[in-house]
Amino acid sequence: MDSILVTGNGPLRGQIPIAGAKNACLTLMPATLLSEEPLTLTNAPRLSDIKTMTALLQSLGAEVSSLQSGQVLALSSHDLTSQTADYEIVRKMRASNLVLGPLLARFGQAVVSLPGGCAIGARPMDLHVEGLEALGAEIELKDGYLHAKAPKGLIGAVHEMRFASVGATENIVMAATLAKGSTVLKNAAREPEIVDLVECLRKMGAQITGEGTSTIEIQGVERLHGATHQVVTDRIELGTYMLAPAICGGEVELLGGRMNLVGAFAEKLTAAGVVIEETKAGLKVSRPNGRVQAVDVVTEPFPGFPTDLQAQMMALMCTAEGTSVLEERIFENRFMHAPELVRMGAAIEVHGGTATVTGVEQLKGAPVMATDLRASVSLILAGLAAEGETIVSRVYHLDRGYEQVVRKLEGVGAKIERIKSQ
Ligand code: EPZ
Repeated sequence: MDSILVTGNGPLRGQIPIAGAKNACLTLMPATLLSEEPLTLTNAPRLSDIKTMTALLQSLGAEVSSLQSGQVLALSSHDLTSQTADYEIVRKMRASNLVLGPLLARFGQAVVSLPGGCAIGARPMDLHVEGLEALGAEIELKDGYLHAKAPKGLIGAVHEMRFASVGATENIVMAATLAKGSTVLKNAAREPEIVDLVECLRKMGAQITGEGTSTIEIQGVERLHGATHQVVTDRIELGTYMLAPAICGGEVELLGGRMNLVGAFAEKLTAAGVVIEETKAGLKVSRPNGRVQAVDVVTEPFPGFPTDLQAQMMALMCTAEGTSVLEERIFENRFMHAPELVRMGAAIEVHGGTATVTGVEQLKGAPVMATDLRASVSLILAGLAAEGETIVSRVYHLDRGYEQVVRKLEGVGAKIERIKSQ
């Protein structure tokens, strides 16, 4: 397993290009199952999760080719050979469950393994099942697999979700595009990745309104046609790299960044003393007044503070002046980066879903271990600001969600390298 060696090297300066959104691409790819015509995705990120989704779709008989060194994905599911998403693939990546809605809508049946738990929580699928059953699906759990069928097709309905789940919203919306009649989905998730999915479905001929609000209405159609769609910029990668100049000092321009992607997060950074300026090319971030101030954070569904930036924000708060309270309300176990940051001299106390961080003058480099995707990059951010060397192990977590992280950070003056495992 590779590691990444980071050595604190002072302020950062330059530009970092932001890639297409992993969490948009992972729902756009299964949308190909809704039509027998080809779907082309541009600005696709080059990540291991995209490779995993590619393997899953190919295991169903879809064709997926990766062009222009992975930035363009050409997908077609004209002739599918299976409607079963195997445990071996689903357990590696929960987003595999996003084939459930499309398979059910187009073929009237699907067998999808339950993902099983992951580092950050149990991550059940009850909200997905309730929504699809509201559309007339019959779903039963057998041998760890959801067996779903809709022999007479799906029927539009009014359904209110108990919680604004991102994945459940995506599965239900995709399924409803081919249901008979209209569907009203209430308490829908509002994330930009859902807006991006709906924009792509609309290009494919779907009739949908309300994306980005809590009520999405879908008028079912007979069939969907092919389309070409550009994947939206990755707001989590954007927020992650905005934290680099915030924690190290200097000035970095994030190319492709837009303020509307990072609203609540940017507000918190500004309150901490970080300066964010919208430029023609993206967002320019600097920390003109030295050490940032501690701010409190509560993670919420969009447009609240994103849970996927909580670990990275904690790294910044470890170096802030004052005490910050971070409350994680989305996942039940998303503080595994805390003990690793403590190894670097951070002062953090975790009680249930709340972490209290008292900022320190200087973090110290140390060997630390990545436990999940966002925790891994939080440790790299801490290493950029720490005195001395930090070695982050198990960086396969990082490869799931961050393309060329070493090259992007080296490009703004960071002292960072990848150490290949023997
Ligand atoms: C998506 O996961 C993202 N993944 C996650 O990003 C992100 O953290 C999450 O949304 C929240 O924003 C992708 O888009 C591929 P949820 P998802 O359904 O859809 C509970 C990353 O780092 N829940 O909104 O799985 C669930 O356990 C990843 O890129 C149920 O109880 O998130 C969790 O506590 C991590 N029952 C909460 O809701 C369900 O049926 C939010 O889950 C579904 C979810």
